[in-house]
Order: sequence, then structure tokens, then C-alpha cells
Amino acid sequence: MSVILAIESSCDETSVAICDNGKITANVIANQTIHQNYGGVIPELASRVHQQNIVPVIQQALIDAKVSKKELTAVAFTRGPGLLGSLLVGVSFAKSFALALDLPLIAINHMHAHILAHFIEDPKPSFPFLCLTVSGGHTQIVLVKDYFDMEIVGSTLDDAAGEAFDKTAKILNLPYPGGPLIDVHARTGNPLAFKFPEPQIKGLNYSFSGLKTAILYFIRDNEKVNPNFISENLDDICASVQYSIVNILLNKVKKAAQEYQIKDIAIAGGVSANTGLRNTLAQFAERLGWNVYIPAFEYCTDNAAMIAIAGHYKYIKKEFVGQEIAPTSRMEF
Ligand code: KG4
Ligand code: ZN
Repeated sequence: MSVILAIESSCDETSVAICDNGKITANVIANQTIHQNYGGVIPELASRVHQQNIVPVIQQALIDAKVSKKELTAVAFTRGPGLLGSLLVGVSFAKSFALALDLPLIAINHMHAHILAHFIEDPKPSFPFLCLTVSGGHTQIVLVKDYFDMEIVGSTLDDAAGEAFDKTAKILNLPYPGGPLIDVHARTGNPLAFKFPEPQIKGLNYSFSGLKTAILYFIRDNEKVNPNFISENLDDICASVQYSIVNILLNKVKKAAQEYQIKDIAIAGGVSANTGLRNTLAQFAERLGWNVYIPAFEYCTDNAAMIAIAGHYKYIKKEFVGQEIAPTSRMEF
């Protein structure tokens, strides 16, 4: 029996979840809107807002799950990767909380947790499967052999897919974070209106910096001819950029699926909330006979439920850490 309280604070979301014997009974997420004024996450501000949010978010999670502190059996937390100042708030709080309540501590890798989010709800993938993890900081194809036995078989050489979305949004004068807005505009645009080059990277790795430059020049050249080019074509530009990013992502997944002879394909991370990616993945699946796994929206972007479920599997293995544990901005996979 386990009742695990989990804390996620790797970037700009303060989140606390509770996992009762493998079932998520609370998942509270406090977003930080302050960064919208700056066009990106300001680490120092993120850390300060985590400090303000952490206690009320914990209290709300306990209320939602209808459990008392006394009923908890462990505290799980994101150790890394992420912004050090942000991680420090969650890690320090988890350590003091565990010390005060005499509970074991469970350290979780944020990138493992994005993948283990698939084990929150049915249908759950069976091992081995391939997972495309696409977030603001990472783009990876991961061969998942077991809950904590994972191998990165492809990753980005420069920008992450989320960055490609967000940087494009910035070029289009959309507010931060622009990824979800591109998604919204793309729904009413023509994905074949404009064509962008697909990077020629060998193997299973990605590169998005060339695409960003191509978009930048494309907008600059068109604005010279028509200063209203962006506003008059926003939906078509968004749909075309999204189409490019999604196809770059999925063509490599197709390659990996062939190479590893795996037909169970999952997606994880913030960008897996993207409608274009979800729809195109369904089309690939139909054509190639894949079984596809996509988490619910709320478990795609940063959340503590994924930390809690990862904590649940570590609790079963009794994989605990001591009070000497420290956060780490870069973490071994
Ligand atoms: O996993 P996540 O919440 O945080 C990180 O660990 O990075 O991912 C955030 C990223 C951002 O780049 C955001 O723009 C992108 O996910 N994102 C989306 C969508 N929702 C979030 N990108 C495209 N379409 C979306 N619907
Ligand atoms: Zn994330």
C-alpha cells in the first residue's frame, strides 16, 4: 500500500499530485503567468513564484485527494533536469516535508516521468515501446524497455521541438509560450500553403535550427513585399510550420520503428498536446499498423501526476534517497 505525495518544480509550473496505490487522486498545477511579460521563462522569477505557490498547492492536493499528512507513505520529487533555482524549491520542500513526517524520499528524473505518464491511465503500453518525448527543452526518441530501463536512440542536435514552436511564435509576434497558439491558428489554416525545408540529418537525430532560420527569412522576405503578410496569412503560416515540425518528428519515429521492429509508439512531453501531432500520428498509425499511446492533455505538459506515478514504481522497488540528495539541472538519463 502506498500514498505518495509528489512535487514537480523543474520549470515554471508548481505542481503537487497524490498517487494512492497507483491511482492519481490529486494533480494540482499552479501556472506562472508572470513570464508572459518577458517572452520566456525568467529563472529567478520562476524560483520566487515556486516559493509562494508550494504550500498552497500542497494543501490543495491533500484536500483534493481527501488524505491527511499522516496517511502519506512517501514523498517523491523532480530532481532534474530543469532550472536549478526552480528545482531547489521543490527538492528542499520535499526533503523538509519528508524529514518532518519521517517519510522515505523518492528522486525522479523529469524526462522518465514524462514517459511514465503513460501508466497513469488505460490503455497502458507494454514493453518494449518507442516514445517520442517532445518538450520545451528536449526532443528524444526513447526505447523504453522497462519502467526505469530506457535508452535514448535519437535526440535533437540543437533546438527542441517546443523551442521551434515557441521561436516561430515569437517571429510571428505571438505571446509566450507560443506553441499552443500556433496550434490554435493552425486549425483554420492550410498546412500546404507554404513549404519549409526538411533538415537532412542522418540516423535518428533531429535538428530544428535550420527550420527556424528558414522561417525567419521567409517572413522577412514576404514582409518586404507586403508589410501585412503575417496578419493576412497567420493561420496558413501556423498550419504550414506545424505541418513541417510534425512531419520532421514523425518521419524519424517511422525510421526508429523500422530499425527496432517496434509497433507500439507513444508520445510524451508538452508538445504532445499539439493537435496536428496527435492527428498525424493517428494517420501514421493507420498506415503502418502502429498501436499509438497518447496521454490525456493534463498529463502531457509539466505536472506532478507523472512524478507521482514514477514515484509509485520506485516505491515498489524501495528505491529511496537520503537527505543528502541535491537537485541537478542536467541529469543522466
Ligand atoms: O513538457 P513541457 O510542459 O515543459 C518542458 O519540460 O519543457 O513543454 C512545454 C513546451 C513549450 O515549448 C510549449 O510551447 C509546448 O510544449 N506546447 C505546445 C503545445 N502545448 C505545449 N506546442 C505545440 N502545440 C501545443 N498544443
Ligand atoms: Zn517537461
